[in-house]
Amino acid sequence: MKTIPIIVDCDPGIDDTIALLTAFVSPELDILGITPVCGNQPLGRTVLNALQVCELGGRPDIPVYPGCFRPMLREPIHGQFHGKTGLGNTTLPDPVKTAEEMSAVDFLIEALSLASAKGEPVTLCCLGPMTNLAVALRIKPQIADGIGRVVMMGGAYREPGNRTMTSEFNVLADPHAAHVVFSSGIPIVALALDATHQVMLKPEHVTAFSRVGGRISHALGELMAFWDRNDVARYGSRGGPLHDPLVIAYILAPHLFGTTRARIFVEYESELCMGQTIADWYGKSGLEPNAEIVTRVDAQGVIDFFLDRLSRYAEKVPA
Ligand code: BDR
Ligand code: CA
Repeated sequence: MKTIPIIVDCDPGIDDTIALLTAFVSPELDILGITPVCGNQPLGRTVLNALQVCELGGRPDIPVYPGCFRPMLREPIHGQFHGKTGLGNTTLPDPVKTAEEMSAVDFLIEALSLASAKGEPVTLCCLGPMTNLAVALRIKPQIADGIGRVVMMGGAYREPGNRTMTSEFNVLADPHAAHVVFSSGIPIVALALDATHQVMLKPEHVTAFSRVGGRISHALGELMAFWDRNDVARYGSRGGPLHDPLVIAYILAPHLFGTTRARIFVEYESELCMGQTIADWYGKSGLEPNAEIVTRVDAQGVIDFFLDRLSRYAEKVPA
């Protein structure tokens, strides 16, 4: 089978963890590396969490490259719904392996330069603030030729923000990095709150996921239960939006999603609207679209997709 080479740039994070666990049991994907960044937690913790998730998922073979300690210009901010460690109340196994010596930025430059030379572009899965990719692009812009596309979770277009009135966490955490990526000319698929708020992880789903079997079953149930925001007024039901895993679902099951092409802009000067993402739906800017923005999601199809994938642990990595 011809596999899709991917790099997972992330800040685990409960939903990052579910995305990683799904990717680990997807034979269509060749995961070249994981590049944690400062985001939901400080860098030391997102690196440790990534190593622990590799251990839990039985994939210590995947290298983890530590990324940037801080956003490009702004002070770091961290996630509010992932608990003290970033992984809720779950205790994951201690990792046997350690992080690589090479930094995420050096790894991106090396892997993407090679991909460009071989003519085998890599898909970048961005699940956190995009600092690592932006810094790599600033150092060596030619690496853009080694990227087939960036499939990213972040932003909010027709939805309001989730961290401020206007802004989604990943873009707010490093708006300058998002600006660099959105203006790079690299093909982008944007899974913003407009998409992720269509897939609510409700209590009945949590129960179903905690029964998938295998060694992840218990931890998965705990992680997903912690994720229940219980904000009925806002979401119309109990549960929480399943943000980052949608990136993996989009790559593997694109028929579950509908997109609209538009130009994306990022606000990085106004304090009131810092990190706001704006879509030029109707060509007002006179600029060409730079992204496919996901506007429709088959929510039940996506939940079934994850149940199917995560059930594979029962055979592959038994308890
Ligand atoms: C994004 O923010 C983080 O807290 C989540 O991991 C996700 O990547 C959602 O706004
Ligand atoms: Ca994330």
